[in-house]
Amino acid sequence: MMKTLTTIRFFKPLACASLFCLPMLTTVPAIAAGNAVSGADVYNAECADCHSLKAGKNKKGSSFVGLIGRTAGTVPGAKYSDAMKSSKIVWTPERIDAYITHPKQVVPGGSMKYDGLDDAKARADLIAFLATKS
Ligand code: HEC
Repeated sequence: MMKTLTTIRFFKPLACASLFCLPMLTTVPAIAAGNAVSGADVYNAECADCHSLKAGKNKKGSSFVGLIGRTAGTVPGAKYSDAMKSSKIVWTPERIDAYITHPKQVVPGGSMKYDGLDDAKARADLIAFLATKS
């Protein structure tokens, strides 16, 4: 029950109008356990230089507003590599987790100059935080 509640809270900002949500709801509990408050610190330390939390404000990377659930490479005005634009990745928590663990492996030829975040808890916290901006 707890897990289900956490998962639902985690995805509340998503408009769950389509079947699209179902696979995510069944697969994310481990990641959804992240702490969004700690995740804000991870964001500031690791991502804020290149990704803003304001809609429409792109830095080196795209704005993080609405990241969860969107298709890779689709923020208007953001600069992307061809590799990212053609990746067809949908940014579920799992895909974000995989990408920030090994950016170069998940999007070979991508242009994000970030080596990866080894700490699984930090990644979970960060993703919980990003979900509050979606
Ligand atoms: C040095 C700048 C830089 C840092 C630091 C950085 N990114 Fe990125 N990020 C980029 C760039 C540039 C791209 C576009 C990559 C491409 O097109 O191949 C990107 C793309 C992304 C995307 C795909 C976005 C989309 O709109 O499809 C995600 C998700 C992402 N980054 C997450 C993160 C997270 C999470 C962190 C912190 C842990 C982070 N990035 C840190 C520069 C950065």
